[in-house]
Amino acid sequence: MSIELNQISFCYASHTSYGEYALREVELFIGDGEFVGIMGHTGCGKTTLAQIVAGLLPPFAGTVKIDGYDINKKGYDRKLLRKKVGFVFQYPEHQLFETTVEREVAFGLKYGGLSWNERMERVKDALECMGFAFERVRKESPMSFSGGEKRRIAIAGVLVSDPDILILDEPTAGLDAKSRSSLHKIIAKLNQRGATVLWISHDADSLCKYADRIIVLEKGKIVMDGPPREVFADQTKTEQYQIGTSQARVISEMLQKRGFKFERKPITYQELLDDLCNYFKKGG
Ligand SMILES: Nc1ncnc2c1ncn2[C@@H]1O[C@H](COP(=O)(O)OP(=O)(O)O)[C@@H](O)[C@H]1O
Ligand SMILES: [Mg+2]
Repeated sequence: MSIELNQISFCYASHTSYGEYALREVELFIGDGEFVGIMGHTGCGKTTLAQIVAGLLPPFAGTVKIDGYDINKKGYDRKLLRKKVGFVFQYPEHQLFETTVEREVAFGLKYGGLSWNERMERVKDALECMGFAFERVRKESPMSFSGGEKRRIAIAGVLVSDPDILILDEPTAGLDAKSRSSLHKIIAKLNQRGATVLWISHDADSLCKYADRIIVLEKGKIVMDGPPREVFADQTKTEQYQIGTSQARVISEMLQKRGFKFERKPITYQELLDDLCNYFKKGG
């Protein structure tokens, strides 16, 4: 499902004289099924942008179209929007409130007109997708789980609606390496199944591995937009906007300084490995 932003501006506290723009005239088109990483240092407007796309904040100016429809137009079906767009907040575990895992995950299906059994089928799928054994966890309290598990439960509650667009606001912040990597794989799988993904992250390694495209924000404006290889090729800008770079790219730069010649600029470990093997095969 596509996302289109035209001239989006947003200002918190717009009624006061000190209101500053969190977004300024943002133009953006994201095609159906794209996997887009959103980067930029703290305060640049990433969360605001994501909330505007999800319809959680009304833009100050401009239009937001999801699947070609203006979501802020009078008469647009908000319930439909909630079904289409799944939003995983930065600390989704803070929003757990139900007494059992099955009720927690099923919450988003409450008004969808499904029977209890149909809902439980979906809940089972979502929990299994997040690595849980449904029968073992369904009657447990969400509060009895670890931080990483709670987050996976909360994310299952978003996936249960099978959203066409999945927006994740730094979903792996504070998770251990194992939970992080399993979450990455799940997001990639959902994208392969057709979901459009918007993933806010500071993790250049993971975005290089999974994203088709990276958008960098600075002071509420899009300042870079392109495939990871192009974005991370511009060292002056990546330093200016403080988005870091992937470890594979750092290592390939070091090797290049020592005389290795790469045909492309590797940005993932897999590419680096392939290029090194090629280099040695050719006899250096
Ligand atoms: N609820 C709010 N009230 C006032 N200002 C806010 C609020 N949320 C964010 N801001 C400001 O808007 C700007 C963009 O914030 P945000 O979208 O949260 O950035 P990011 O997610 O990139 O860190 C920042 O200057 C921030 O201080
Ligand atoms: Mg944020």
